Amino acid sequence: MTERSLIARALRATATVVGVSSLLASPSLAAADGKATYEASCQLCHAAGVAGAPKLEDTEGWAARIEQGMDLLVEHAIKGYQGSAGYMPPKGGNMSLSDEDVKAAVEYMVEAATATQ
Ligand code: HEC
Repeated sequence: MTERSLIARALRATATVVGVSSLLASPSLAAADGKATYEASCQLCHAAGVAGAPKLEDTEGWAARIEQGMDLLVEHAIKGYQGSAGYMPPKGGNMSLSDEDVKAAVEYMVEAATATQ
């Protein structure tokens, strides 16, 4: 075997290890981010139902909201909206959050709201 093919084999092996470990890391990171974002920027209103915000344990209230579809829920959370219950500020008032952060937080909230059903 030539020296060149040995180097090529070593490089391929490294690439495989890196690829597998980043695949394993990503799903759990995404879930953790949604919860962390919720706790930092959303639970302020949504844990206690401040200003008309739907509480996570209000399963019936959430069921009606979830019927609108995930896309609209995420859009409302990112852009903010005035509903009949109160005012949801854009990104919960934390404009440093990315759209993906807000989406992950909504997914976490919807999961938490449906977990008790
Ligand atoms: C200042 C208080 C406040 C904060 C902070 C807040 N919300 Fe809200 N949120 C509300 C209120 C009030 C409503 C209900 C509005 C209505 O339906 O009348 C609401 C509704 C929602 C809804 C339902 C949307 C719909 O279409 O029914 C989602 C989803 C949501 N918030 C996500 C979030 C996320 C994600 C965060 C954090 C990034 C967050 N909220 C932070 C007050 C807040």
